[in-house]
Amino acid sequence: MKHYPIWHPCTQMKDHEKYPLIKIVKGKGVYLYDDKGNSYIDAISSWWVNLFGHSNPRLNEALRKQAETIEHVIFANFVHEPALKLTDKLLKITPKNLTKIFFADNGSSAVEVAMKMSFGYFKNLGKIKNRFVYLDSGYHGETLGALSVCGEELYSEQYKEIMIPNIKVKGPDCFRCPFKKTRDTCNTECFSFMEKALDENKDKIAAVIIEPMVNCAGGFKMYPANYLKKLRNLTAELGIHLIVDEIAVGFGRTGKMFASEYASIEPDFMCLSKGITGGYMPLSVVLTTDDVYDAFYDDYTTLKAFLHSHSYTGNALACALAVETLNIFEDENVLENNVEKYTYLSRLAKEYFKDYKFCGEVRSLGFITAVELVEDKTSKKPFDWKKRLGFQIYRNALKKGVLLRNLGDVIYFMPPYVIEKDEIEKMVKVAYESTREILG
Ligand SMILES: Cc1ncc(COP(=O)(O)O)c(C=O)c1O
Repeated sequence: MKHYPIWHPCTQMKDHEKYPLIKIVKGKGVYLYDDKGNSYIDAISSWWVNLFGHSNPRLNEALRKQAETIEHVIFANFVHEPALKLTDKLLKITPKNLTKIFFADNGSSAVEVAMKMSFGYFKNLGKIKNRFVYLDSGYHGETLGALSVCGEELYSEQYKEIMIPNIKVKGPDCFRCPFKKTRDTCNTECFSFMEKALDENKDKIAAVIIEPMVNCAGGFKMYPANYLKKLRNLTAELGIHLIVDEIAVGFGRTGKMFASEYASIEPDFMCLSKGITGGYMPLSVVLTTDDVYDAFYDDYTTLKAFLHSHSYTGNALACALAVETLNIFEDENVLENNVEKYTYLSRLAKEYFKDYKFCGEVRSLGFITAVELVEDKTSKKPFDWKKRLGFQIYRNALKKGVLLRNLGDVIYFMPPYVIEKDEIEKMVKVAYESTREILG
């Protein structure tokens, strides 16, 4: 047994006996550099947070300027210019019904906030609704509340005895559609699973939580906007809240500023984090409605207030970075300029992988392209996960200068938006060669 002082996230520490930690000493643009002189294309935007490259000059300057003014102040009773500016900007680009903003400091805490607000809303109105509905491929973070709405059991199985017993629903799975539909014939028949669950439990469900358009950590499962439309209509009809978790897919990742724009829906809660600061600092926000806000508004002694806080809530440095991130979107026409790049990425990934004997599907939405590898192309049978083939492909690609990260046997590309065409070519080629070397 080896004792490392740092216990790393999402890691079996025993793996490090074989794979030593890589010490990163510098980042610039899409590249990370280690202390041995190796460079890596950051194909996953350092856990999906980085938008405009490492050590971005505009973000560096915004951070420096803010640090010289005020770095942080308690956010209860106090406010600062970056938070006010950010609020103003976010309220202009998010759905019109969302008029209130609550600050937190990471994705999981935003999910906790939305869940607590939803539960608290009903309780303040005199109703106890103590269940949340989530999709079997959904992922919303790993604090206990957030984990209790995670469909991917890899993360929650070990803690099942202390989970809130929420309601898991079979979500869309277009690659292995149980109704044998294709994109052209699909009428989101799979929504029937959701209809059934909501109908049977409507009185106890506070909210449904969903990642709009793409279930990211659940294997980059992409689904039609119609599912979201149906979900919004039904939840509104039944008096159930809808929480859209845009933590991974927000800020242009799917081609629109926010993925729920594909369905033009107005949710009750929207959670944002990750790319919000361009990948520089932890920050998250939860946007909600006047209706939710009003339910908590009363004299202090009624105990109706939303008494939830994190020490770094509304951190001024993070807010200044978020304001500059949104300035970059505006000044540099990011959403439009991204189209050519991500179309190229998707086309190239298809050229390399589509006919490969172990490729089940190449799927893309905006700046997310995922390749699902399968043992058998016809039956779509997955590889035995215990062989950790995806992990070996990831290790192999690292040696060739690309930081990929597999999700089981799904290899994906989610690079910073500043990536250039030659870097896209290298990234996809290395992924393909690394895959062939492992799988044959
Ligand atoms: C959709 C989604 N929600 C929530 C989270 C949790 O965010 P954090 O890791 O910042 O707690 C993640 C993280 O990957 C995510 O992808």
